[in-house]
Amino acid sequence: MIKNQHVPIMTKEIISFIEGKNNLSILDCTFGGGGHSKEFLERGHFVTAIDQDEYSLKIAKKFKKKYKNISFHKTNFAYFELLNLNKKFNFILLDLGFSSNQLSDKNIGLSFKINSNLNMNYLGGDLNAYKIINFYNIEELQRVFSLYGEINQAEKLAKYIVNRRSIKKINTNFELIEVLRDSGVNFRSKKIHFATQAFQALRIESNSELENLSIFLNKVHNFLNPGSCLAIISFHSLEDRIVKNYFKNNILKKINTYSNNKDWGYCNLTKKPLIATKSEIIENNRSRSAKLRVGRFIN
Ligand SMILES: C[S@@+](CC[C@H](N)C(=O)[O-])C[C@H]1O[C@@H](n2cnc3c(N)ncnc32)[C@H](O)[C@@H]1O
Repeated sequence: MIKNQHVPIMTKEIISFIEGKNNLSILDCTFGGGGHSKEFLERGHFVTAIDQDEYSLKIAKKFKKKYKNISFHKTNFAYFELLNLNKKFNFILLDLGFSSNQLSDKNIGLSFKINSNLNMNYLGGDLNAYKIINFYNIEELQRVFSLYGEINQAEKLAKYIVNRRSIKKINTNFELIEVLRDSGVNFRSKKIHFATQAFQALRIESNSELENLSIFLNKVHNFLNPGSCLAIISFHSLEDRIVKNYFKNNILKKINTYSNNKDWGYCNLTKKPLIATKSEIIENNRSRSAKLRVGRFIN
C-alpha cells in the first residue's frame, strides 16, 4: 500500500503566483509525495514531474490513474535536459531536500532518532555517509564538516573520527552520534540536536545537493517561457545563498538591461524570501526553516 507522509510546504504562497491562470505547463522538479503537483493538477494545469526517488515513482503511478495531465520522470533534476522534453514551462518549482517519506525510511537513515545503517543517500547515488565517515581522509572530512556543516572545529572532529574508525568502523547512525558526542567538539547548536550540523554536512555531500542545484540553475533559463516564474524553496542557508545569488546576479535592472550581460533576466518577486506563517509552522514543524524565493523570467 502506497502511503504518503509528506505535507507540502507553503502551498498557498506557491499557488498565489499562478492564481487566475489556466492551462499552465508546470515543471515540478521535486515531486516527492506529490503535494504541490496535486494542487497544480486539481487546478487543471499540465504537470511534468521529476524526482530521483523510487517511492515518488510509485506515488506518481497512483497519480496517473486519477489525473490525465501528469507525466513523471525518475531522474536527477540537475540533468533534466537529457529527457529531451522539447518544451518550455510557465512555472518551475524546486522544493529542495528530502521528503518526510525519505526521513522515515530506515534504509536511507537521515534521522538521528532512528538507528539505521549509515547511508543518508536519498537519491540513490554511489556515495553515502558510511563511505565518507570511514574512508575520507582528514582533509576531506574537514572540508565536508567545515563547508557543509559550518562546524568551527572541523579539523578536530575529522581527526577524532579518523582515530576512532581505526579502532572500529563506524556503522550506524547511533554509533556516529556517540562518536560526535565523545569528540569534545563544541557544536554550536543550542536549540537543535547537537548532531544536526554533522548530519547536514554528510547529507549534502552524499547527495551532491549544492552541486545539483548549481548545475540546474546554470541552464534553467533555457526552459522558461517569457513571463513565467521560477520558484525555489530551500531549507538551509547554504542552499538559500546559492538561490539568492542566482537571482541577484541575473536581476533585470530596467527594461532591456540585464545585470548578467545576457538577453534574459529575472524580475525579483520576493525581495525578502517568503517564510511559512505561524499557523503553518504549528501544523507542520518542517516548514519552520523554509525560505521561498521567486523570480519572473524576462527575455
Ligand atoms: C521536500 S521533497 C518535495 C516534496 C513535494 N514538493 C511534495 O509536496 O510532496 C524533495 C524531493 O526532491 C527530491 N530531490 C532532491 N534532490 C533531487 C535531485 N537532484 N533530483 C531529483 N529529485 C531530487 C527528493 O527525492 C524529494 O522527494
